[in-house]
This record gives sequence, C-alpha cells and structure tokens, in this order.
Amino acid sequence: MKGVVLAGGTGSRLYPLTKVTNKHLLPVGSKPMIYYPIERLLQAGIKEILIVTGTEHMGSVVSLLGSGKDFNCRFSYKVQDEAGGIAQALALAENFAGGDDITVILGDNIFQDELTPYLKEYAAQGGGAKLLLKEVPDPGRYGVAELKAGLITGIEEKPLQPRSNNAVTGIYIYDKKVFEYIRTLKPSGRGELEITDVNNKYIADKRCTYSIFQGFWTDAGTLESLRYAASLVEQHNL
Ligand code: DAU
Repeated sequence: MKGVVLAGGTGSRLYPLTKVTNKHLLPVGSKPMIYYPIERLLQAGIKEILIVTGTEHMGSVVSLLGSGKDFNCRFSYKVQDEAGGIAQALALAENFAGGDDITVILGDNIFQDELTPYLKEYAAQGGGAKLLLKEVPDPGRYGVAELKAGLITGIEEKPLQPRSNNAVTGIYIYDKKVFEYIRTLKPSGRGELEITDVNNKYIADKRCTYSIFQGFWTDAGTLESLRYAASLVEQHNL
C-alpha cells in the first residue's frame, strides 16, 4: 500500500489567504494543514507517499516536507500543471503506484480516525475501492452517497437535493484499476475530471465498499471549515 496526498487546486475559496501560498500550507492549529493527512498515512504504516501539487507553490511544499527523512518516510512529488480536477491530479500517480494499491487523501481533509482498521477491511475485500463516509449536516457541499441494504449504490457530486446526509470524504482506497477508469473520464460541467465519476465506475462494476467514519472529519477548504478544523484539532489535541 502506498499513499497519495493531493494538494493542488487553486484554493480560491480561501482567497486572499491563498494569494501567495498553497492552501495546504496554511496553519491549522499548530501545524500546516498538509501534516494532518500525512500523519494519518504514517500512523497506518504507509511510508511511500506521493505529494501532488501545482506549479506555483511546489517549491514551498518541497521546502516544508523535504525528502521525508524528518518524517521517517519517503516523499515523491508530481506537478499538476493546472487545476483540472481531483481525478486529473490522481492520474499523475500511476507510475508512482507501479501497480500497487493506494490510499489517496485530499490535502485539506482533517480527521480523527486511524486508517489501520479500514485498510485491514480493504485487504480482506480483494481489490476494488473503499470509500469512507461521514454523516454531515450540510451534504450539498460534498459528494453524497446513496446507500441501500449495506451497499453504496451511487454518488452525486454537490447535489441540490441530497438523497442522504452521507458525505463522501476525501479518503479513498483504490486498486490499480483506478487509472484505467480515469482514462475514460470526460470533464464535468465545471471543467474538471471528477473523483465522483471514478467512484461511480467502481460502483457500477460492483467493486466498491464503504465504511462510516467514527470520529470527527472535516475539510478545510473554506474560511468557515478552516476555523472549524482548527477548533477540532485543538479540542482533540491532534
Ligand atoms: O472533501 C471531500 C470532498 O472533496 C468530496 O466530498 C467531493 O466529492 C470531492 O469532489 C471534493 O470536493 P471539493 O469541492 O471540496 O474539492 P476541492 O476542489 O476543494 O479539492 C479538494 C482537494 O483536492 C484540494 O484540497 C486539493 C485537491 N485537488 C483539487 C483539484 C480541483 C487537486 O490536487 N487538484 C485539483 O485540480
């Protein structure tokens, strides 16, 4: 199992905080945002980690993280030339993955649960995808999962009328087939290659499971959620 942290995008919702730096370098509590997903991968024993980010702030990201020596792991880096979507950023991980399974975390996701139990469940399911869901009060901001009889039957990206409160978090476990699926994608209405389309392909192939996060989960991509994330990490001493 290898790890991928996606830290590209424009951070436009946090402007002007992101005018001269990358969203994932902003402080959340006592650490830069990107430390939190990295720490979850390390805690699960994943030591080979690819960081994908844009051209503008790659230098700062590398200055912060380095080779991985200080984290007792190995970092690799890939540049996403333009913010063409989460699935486009993930496509850059194909060589790094080299046919292995990957745990992908969006760089603005901050959460409490350890990943180890979910990785064990994934190992037992024999490939495919595993998604982690969290019940939220405002599902329309996220990918929203529809569940029936213990199965995930579909995901809608930012629906106006969400069919459930189960947000698809930005933590995804995939086998190598993910890269084949990405190659078949077309840009969405907002001009991006959507990770939700990838997940729906796994669902259509009946190769997708889910678990529901127990502890807190939030993204930190808006001013409000950034503040919320900071309060949660302080409260839980992360
Ligand atoms: O946080 C969970 C949500 O993340 C999911 O529920 C949604 O299904 C998923 O589409 C995504 O929604 P967002 O609107 O929050 O995605 P956003 O554009 O904010 O990007 C989230 C992270 O993905 C960002 O912190 C860095 C990475 N990213 C994003 C884009 C668009 C990239 O690395 N490259 C990109 O081009």
